[in-house]
Amino acid sequence: MINIGILGLGRIGRIHLENLSTRIEGVRVLAAMNPSEEGRKFAQKFNVPLITSNADDVINHPDIDAVLICTSTNVHADYLIKVARAGKAIFCEKPLDLSLQKVRETLSVVKQSGVPLMLAFNQRLDPNFQEVKQALLKGRIGKLRSIHIISRDPGPPPIPYIKASGGLFLDMTIHDFDMARYLVGDEVKEVFARGHNLVDPEIGKAGDIDSAYVMLTFNNDVTVVIENCRHASYGYDQRLEVFGSEGMMKAENPLKTTNWVMDKEGVHLSRNLDFFIDRYAESYRLEMKVFIESLEQKIPMPITGEDGLSAMLIALAANISVKENRVVKIEELLG
Ligand SMILES: NC(=O)c1ccc[n+]([C@@H]2O[C@H](COP(=O)([O-])OP(=O)(O)OC[C@H]3O[C@@H](n4cnc5c(N)ncnc54)[C@H](O)[C@@H]3O)[C@@H](O)[C@H]2O)c1
Repeated sequence: MINIGILGLGRIGRIHLENLSTRIEGVRVLAAMNPSEEGRKFAQKFNVPLITSNADDVINHPDIDAVLICTSTNVHADYLIKVARAGKAIFCEKPLDLSLQKVRETLSVVKQSGVPLMLAFNQRLDPNFQEVKQALLKGRIGKLRSIHIISRDPGPPPIPYIKASGGLFLDMTIHDFDMARYLVGDEVKEVFARGHNLVDPEIGKAGDIDSAYVMLTFNNDVTVVIENCRHASYGYDQRLEVFGSEGMMKAENPLKTTNWVMDKEGVHLSRNLDFFIDRYAESYRLEMKVFIESLEQKIPMPITGEDGLSAMLIALAANISVKENRVVKIEELLG
């Protein structure tokens, strides 16, 4: 039995708590921490033995093997260091932090502590995207030439969230950067990005963009084009297409229902799913399963802190590219 503690019971912390408590074998949540009453109340539903507002109660709990860091991003790095020094395994939500220097320092402490760390790039575990990855590994589409990723949110988050998010590339596109690296199986060498405010001028006033187009060139010359927008009138839009020497494969949006209507206007399908909570529900369950199995079997984590750092470097390069209107080499950031 693996004993878990959770820090942060907002949207994502609650998903993990519920999955661990009801859908994953061989694990129990022994403690959960959240500053506000609302998050703590949620933990009561799952009979968590210790519910607290003090993170140290969780981090230093003698029976806890692993800690999930699901708090707001600004405190991820501090908790990563504390949990690593307490000798416990870590599952951390993305991004690791918004400062490159802090991420490097934090990963170095985690490495020195020797504790396992899994980063929450849950989209790798999505069954549709996983089937694409397996097809690529089996050579079903031949030699990979290019990938097109489309990721559009149903609507923008509140302005205070935008201000603290680190910007579109670090907050939203980071998942797509990781997906690109995962599917290509190589590292990015160059980034060219364009960003605009087409959704809400308030997002521009807050210093961020809401629509972006990014071109990644990998060391093996595969090109990945990513399109992002903070608003899609038809719901959450998460698709991708891989193109190779022997064919093409597409992952389309799962719809709310399988029903369709035919009338004099044409054939109408159901709407897209609403947002990440329903679209990626299965991937959140699977990432907890994989985390627990990796701990049980004492095998390396499938998604690492270094994966988080690599995706962050691409995001920072995209920021520079938009600002300076030029192609940015990743090696510029490696100094
Ligand atoms: N992997 C994904 O698909 C995904 C989806 C959503 C959010 N996230 C990430 O998860 C993290 C949390 O996002 P969310 O949407 O759940 O946010 P949220 O605002 O709903 O929840 C954050 C929680 O952290 C708590 N908190 C704030 N400061 C804290 C502190 N100092 N110590 C402990 N807890 C603190 C808040 O009370 C809140 O309950 C963010 O880093 C976000 O980027 C990842």
